[in-house]
Formats: sequence, C-alpha cells, structure tokens
Amino acid sequence: MRKVGLISFLTLMAVVCLGATVLGAGAHDYVGCTGCHNIHYAVAEKAFGVDNTQTTNPRDGKLDGVSALCLGCHQTPENGGQGFMPIFLTTTHPVGVVPNEKIAHLSDHLLVNGVLECTSCHEPHPSNPNYKYLRVATDEGAAMDKFCALCHPAKVDLMGNYGLGQEQLPVFSSMNEAAGAGEFTQDEVIIHNETPKYIVPQATE
Ligand code: HEC
Ligand code: HEC
Ligand code: HEC
Ligand code: HEC
Repeated sequence: MRKVGLISFLTLMAVVCLGATVLGAGAHDYVGCTGCHNIHYAVAEKAFGVDNTQTTNPRDGKLDGVSALCLGCHQTPENGGQGFMPIFLTTTHPVGVVPNEKIAHLSDHLLVNGVLECTSCHEPHPSNPNYKYLRVATDEGAAMDKFCALCHPAKVDLMGNYGLGQEQLPVFSSMNEAAGAGEFTQDEVIIHNETPKYIVPQATE
C-alpha cells in the first residue's frame, strides 16, 4: 500500500507541477510505465501495480480483468482507487458485458475474453495520440460519432459524414509489437494478448 501511495503522490505532484496544458500532451505520459506496471512488486496480471478489489460492477456484482486495473487509479480512495478522474460504474456506459448483437455490432477483436472492457474503447498507452486515449480519432472530441460507430454503426451517418464504412474505421492499438503502434481495422486489431496469470500479491500491513 505504501508504494502505491508514493506513486500516486509523485503522479499528483507531476500533475500539479506540470499543469493542465502540458498534460494535454497525454496524461498517462506522466503516470509513466512504472506507474501502471510495477516491475518487482506487482499486484495483478500484466505486472500491474494497482488493482481495485473494492468496487463492483452493478451489472453482476463482480469486478475483475483489465477494468479493475484502470479502476485501481480511476476511483475514489474509499472505493479502492487513487482518486484520479474517478469513473463510477453506476453512472457509466456498460462495461463487463457480453454484447447483445442488437445493441452493439462489433468485432470480437475489440473484446477481452468475449467481454467489453475499458480497453475496448481506450488504448491507455502513451503512444496513443487520440483524444482521451480513445481507440478512434475524433478530432479532439468534435467527431465523437465516428468513435461510437465502431460498435453502433447503424446509428451513425458514417458514409455521409466521413465517406467510410464501419469496416474501414481506423482503430489504434499498441498491442502488437511485431506490427508496431498504429491503426488497424477492427477485424485485424489486437487489444489483448493472453499471458499466464502468475502474480500473487504479497500481503501488506
Ligand atoms: C495508464 C496505465 C498504463 C501505462 C501508463 C502503461 N501501460 Fe502498459 N498496459 C496497460 C494495460 C491496462 C495493459 C494490459 C492490456 C491488456 O492486455 O488487456 C498493458 C499492457 C502492457 C504490456 C503487455 C502487452 C501484452 O501484449 O500483453 C506491455 C509490454 C506494456 N504494457 C508496456 C508498457 C510500457 C513500456 C509503458 C510505458 C511507455 C506502459 N506499458 C505504460 C496500462 C498501462
Ligand atoms: C497508475 C494510475 C493510473 C492507471 C492504472 C490508469 N490511469 Fe488513466 N489517468 C491517470 C492519471 C493520473 C490521469 C490524469 C488525471 C488528471 O489529469 O486529473 C489519467 C487520465 C486518463 C484519461 C484522460 C486523458 C485525457 O486526455 O484527459 C483517460 C481516458 C484514462 N486515464 C483512461 C484510463 C484507462 C482506460 C485505464 C486502464 C486501461 C487507465 N486510465 C489506467 C492515472 C492512471
Ligand atoms: C463505450 C466506450 C467506453 C468505455 C467502455 C469506457 N470509456 Fe472512458 N471514455 C469514453 C469516452 C467517449 C470518453 C470521452 C468523453 C468526453 O470527453 O466527452 C471517455 C473518457 C474517460 C476518461 C476521462 C474523463 C474526463 O473527465 O475527461 C476516463 C478517466 C475514462 N474514460 C476512463 C475509463 C475507464 C476506467 C473505463 C472502464 C471502467 C472506461 N473509461 C470505459 C468511452 C468509454
Ligand atoms: C467498443 C464498442 C463500443 C463503443 C465504441 C461504444 N459502445 Fe455503446 N455499447 C457497447 C456495448 C457492448 C453495449 C452493451 C450491449 C449490451 O447490453 O449487451 C453498449 C451499450 C450502449 C448503450 C445502451 C446502454 C444500456 O444500458 O442499455 C448506449 C446508449 C450506448 N452504448 C451508447 C454509446 C455511445 C453514445 C457511444 C459513443 C460515445 C458508444 N456507445 C460507444 C459497445 C460500444
């Protein structure tokens, strides 16, 4: 716990000292690789340094997987997070769901083990140049319908507004080192690689 507290303190100092204009370049740049991945004292899969074991998803009363990692920071401290831009699952677009084909039409490549997670919509790595680390470029939020069209294409005038079909929408990912960071179609993009879950967090006082 003390290490996580130190990370959040240092991050907070970076946020405070560097200011909002610099952060516009990418908030996670200042979190740094080792703010999310703790090389030797990890508490969750992918050598993650934070994990939310307190919040639950109102959909099924559980929370695991990659969304719990994000909420290790993006929740209030009382709810198991670090207080950075808290995201409440009781007021948020569904996460942790197996998509109903009538509500969302998307490639399995955008799901983690068949489930919609934070990373279905966001690619959190500093190499992602998009507004709010979204997987689709939205012209700094002005073209948000283009992002929604990734999964709700029947609702968006994608062809009329952008001359694109859903299958052509560029989806950002950094999860294939062999291909490099960049944009892929939703049928070829990789957002998650399966690796052994071997991390056993040490007990903390
Ligand atoms: C804001 C948090 C965050 C930051 C900062 C971050 N990562 Fe990650 N990283 C993640 C998450 C979440 C995953 C797991 C995604 C998944 O597999 O579903 C991940 C996965 C990875 C993986 C495993 C990829 C795989 O294919 O399994 C590597 C390697 C990695 N990150 C390296 C880095 C490096 C290097 C940096 C610094 C430039 C960095 N990360 C910064 C959140 C972060
Ligand atoms: C180690 C802590 C940490 C983790 C884990 C983390 N973030 Fe962040 N994130 C931050 C901080 C710090 C900020 C900047 C907060 C601020 O400016 O007040 C931020 C900002 C963001 C923003 C806003 C970026 C912007 O341009 O305004 C998004 C989106 C985001 N995070 C998504 C995620 C997602 C998705 C995950 C999980 C894959 C994640 N974060 C995991 C610390 C973290
Ligand atoms: C369905 C897609 C979707 C999912 C799933 C999703 N987000 Fe987001 N998120 C967005 C969009 C779109 C925005 C930008 C909203 C805006 O700027 O109007 C955003 C913004 C954010 C921000 C910045 C908030 C701010 O005040 O600027 C954070 C932090 C964040 N998301 C974290 C998360 C975390 C953590 C999860 C998983 C629990 C998650 N998101 C799941 C689409 C998604
Ligand atoms: C990566 C895929 C993805 C993206 C991008 C996405 N959604 Fe969704 N959306 C889903 C899934 C999956 C569901 C849940 C379907 C279900 O209930 O089975 C959903 C559900 C919804 C619902 C219904 C919520 C409910 O409780 O019934 C609304 C409204 C919605 N999305 C709006 C949006 C908007 C607006 C955007 C763009 C800002 C967006 N979505 C972006 C995948 C996505």
